[in-house]
Amino acid sequence: MHNYRTSITQFIIEEQRHIEGATGEFTSLLNDIVTACKVISNLVNHGELVGVLGSTESENVQGETQKKLDIISNDVFIKSNEWAGHVAAMASEEMDDIYPIPEAYPRGKYLLTFDPLDGSSNIDVNVSVGTIFSILRCPDGIDNPTKEDFLQPGTKQVCAGYALYGPSSIMVLTTGNGVNGFTLDQNIGEFVLTHPKMQIPEDTVEFAINASNMRFWEAPIKRYVDECLAGKTGSRGRDFNMRWIASMVAEVHRILTRGGVFMYPLDEKNREKGGRLRLMYEANPMSMIIEQAGGASSTGRERIMEVEPSDLHQRIPVILGSKNEVERIVQYHQES
Ligand code: AHG
Ligand code: MN
Ligand code: MN
Repeated sequence: MHNYRTSITQFIIEEQRHIEGATGEFTSLLNDIVTACKVISNLVNHGELVGVLGSTESENVQGETQKKLDIISNDVFIKSNEWAGHVAAMASEEMDDIYPIPEAYPRGKYLLTFDPLDGSSNIDVNVSVGTIFSILRCPDGIDNPTKEDFLQPGTKQVCAGYALYGPSSIMVLTTGNGVNGFTLDQNIGEFVLTHPKMQIPEDTVEFAINASNMRFWEAPIKRYVDECLAGKTGSRGRDFNMRWIASMVAEVHRILTRGGVFMYPLDEKNREKGGRLRLMYEANPMSMIIEQAGGASSTGRERIMEVEPSDLHQRIPVILGSKNEVERIVQYHQES
């Protein structure tokens, strides 16, 4: 028997069949997102051969120098998603303001936020990068959405996902009914189901944090990491391992695969900005995926998905991954 694999298109259509009143609009939107990620994957794979490495002269609204691929990926995402009539407006890390769908196209009922290229400091050194996206509903009766219409808590997300451009390209998705992973089969140009029902182990001995910020950390983070580092001889009674890829997509994918905890906490260096990672297109979609796979996601003080957003580019502390470790870190915050 031929080894038949479910394509992502088939998977989404079959999943939507169980949803009452589904019109196919959402299925079609996801298809356009998948197409965008395939295009970005192709560009990332070809790298210097197609002249996409290196930086530009410009900065984004966060004051970060934009890589060529940050801008190209942003354009690809917009071009793929603006024409079909499923989206009312988009917002991205690389655009100061929201992107309303141009007059030439019909407007749909969804709002799309994305980080077109996550971990872009990795791009020139040929290390994994990714794309993160989140889908919200456009509030009823609004056909001219403004920034305020995007400011919905993570619990309101209809769908969240990421594409990881690593040794293979993988798309991971949730629509609130578990988490599934699809690998891009280059030969047929389709993502196919390879990682059904992903689940994060509740316990782990692996943590990820940028330790160069150690002197800025708050007491609970310092305590947690100190205890990990003490290993077998310390209070935890076991040795821990550490990883830092500097690409949240790659870290989250590792955690979904074998467990772990990822921290980009509030510290003295990022306190004024409210954290390092962005709520609307990094922390919220990743939190939905992590929770849907049985993990937990918190700022240390509250559940990320319950935070009421105040700005499109708002930053937030992120502690996510294996449930028992995240709960322990939250408890350390309560105790201090
Ligand atoms: P981006 O490339 O979209 O700006 O995001 C990078 C983020 C995240 O992916 C990663 O975990 C973190 O920034 C890395 O931060 P450091 O440079 O402090 O390690
Ligand atoms: Mn990012
Ligand atoms: Mn980015």
